[in-house]
Amino acid sequence: MKELPLSKVYQFIEPGPVLLVATSDHGKPNLMAMSYHMVIEDEGIPLIGCILGPWDHSFETLRKTRECVLAVPTVDLASKVVEIGNCSGIDTDKFKTFSLTPVSAEKVKAPLVAECLVNLECRIADDSLIDKYNLIILEVVKAWIDPERKERRLIHHNGNGTFTVDGETLDLRDKMVRWSSYTQR
Ligand SMILES: Cc1cc2nc3c(=O)[nH]c(=O)nc-3n(C[C@H](O)[C@H](O)[C@H](O)COP(=O)(O)O)c2cc1C
Repeated sequence: MKELPLSKVYQFIEPGPVLLVATSDHGKPNLMAMSYHMVIEDEGIPLIGCILGPWDHSFETLRKTRECVLAVPTVDLASKVVEIGNCSGIDTDKFKTFSLTPVSAEKVKAPLVAECLVNLECRIADDSLIDKYNLIILEVVKAWIDPERKERRLIHHNGNGTFTVDGETLDLRDKMVRWSSYTQR
């Protein structure tokens, strides 16, 4: 083993898939890319922990409005996702610039992204760790999937501007003896 610089640790555990966070500031929709997220609770109302930095315009909007949509893009949107994560909603209308379609959500004012495979309408469940870690815990209040979508491969950030695309699926359900309830979902 050779020492790995601590600054590179995240490159090996960054979870992905890269998501889009859609927000709405007084009716003005915006998008950012986000790969720092984790599932906290999957039973009942799902809880998702997200790291949004104060340098993001979306951070301010989410903190203020307390709601957003997490949209799950597939590999065909990869270039747009990276460009979305490299400009600011302060001076760019990202839906227009990247030819994406905002669709009214049911429970939140932030829009769904029509071109994405899955859209999760979310509200802030807990913001007590924002100041310490920029960690916002969201609860999913409504979820949508596009069943017609053929492309379903997601993109995972390797932490350095390169991405891994979903590939082969391993079926190890017969080994999930302790967690069989998951294999029946
Ligand atoms: C692949 C990728 C992943 C990103 N992940 C995050 C993240 O997890 N958290 C974050 O705060 N910013 C992340 N960013 C940066 C934001 O997307 C970026 O700051 C964006 O321009 C913010 O847009 P806004 O100012 O309109 O909100 C990521 C960018 C890229 C390209």
